[in-house]
Amino acid sequence: MSQPPVLISEDGIQARVADLAAQISADYEDKGDIVLIGVLKGAFIFLSDLSRRMTIPRTIEFIAVSSYATGSISSGAVRLVMDVRGNIENRHVLIVEDIVDTGHTLKYLIGILESHRPASIRTCALLRKAESAEVDVPIDYVGFDIGDEWVVGYGLDFAEHDRTLPYLGIVDPEV
Ligand code: PRP
Repeated sequence: MSQPPVLISEDGIQARVADLAAQISADYEDKGDIVLIGVLKGAFIFLSDLSRRMTIPRTIEFIAVSSYATGSISSGAVRLVMDVRGNIENRHVLIVEDIVDTGHTLKYLIGILESHRPASIRTCALLRKAESAEVDVPIDYVGFDIGDEWVVGYGLDFAEHDRTLPYLGIVDPEV
C-alpha cells in the first residue's frame, strides 16, 4: 500500500517539538513542578517526545474522551471516557493535544479539569486547524497551523490506522 503524502516531515516535527519543549520549560522554570495531561489517543506520541525534551520537573497523566461523530463530521458533543488518575489539585496543568479542530474537545477538557481545582491550566496542541474553529478556546502553545486536511501519523489516525507513521501525512477521507 502506498504511504500518505508528507505534510510535515519527521525532521520538521522533531525540530518544532524541541522548540516547544524549550519554550514551555523556560515559561514554567520558576513554577516548580507541572503535570502534563495527554489526551488519548492521538497525543500519545507527541506527549512522549515533548515530555522527554523538557528540562523542568514534570509528571504525566492521561485523559480519554470520545466525540460523537457521523463519519468524519464531529457533532461537537464530547464524552469523558477516562479521567486523570492522579491528584492534580493545586498543580500547574498543561493539556497536551495532537490536534485542535473545532475546539469542542479542548473546551470540554478545560471544564473537566477545572473541576479538579488545579493551580493553573494551559494548553498545547501540535496542530491547529484555525479555519475549522467553532468555539473560542485558548491554545497557549501551537506546533503548526494547518489547513482543512485530514492528517495522519505521529499519533493521528484514519479509522485507527497510520498512528505510528513517523511523519504527518495527508489522506483523502473520501477514498
Ligand atoms: C481528535 C483529537 C482531539 C479532537 C479535536 O481526537 O485528538 O482530541 O479530535 O477535535 P475538535 O477540536 O473538533 O473537538 P479523536 O476524536 O480523533 O480521537 P483520538 O485522539 O482517539 O484519535
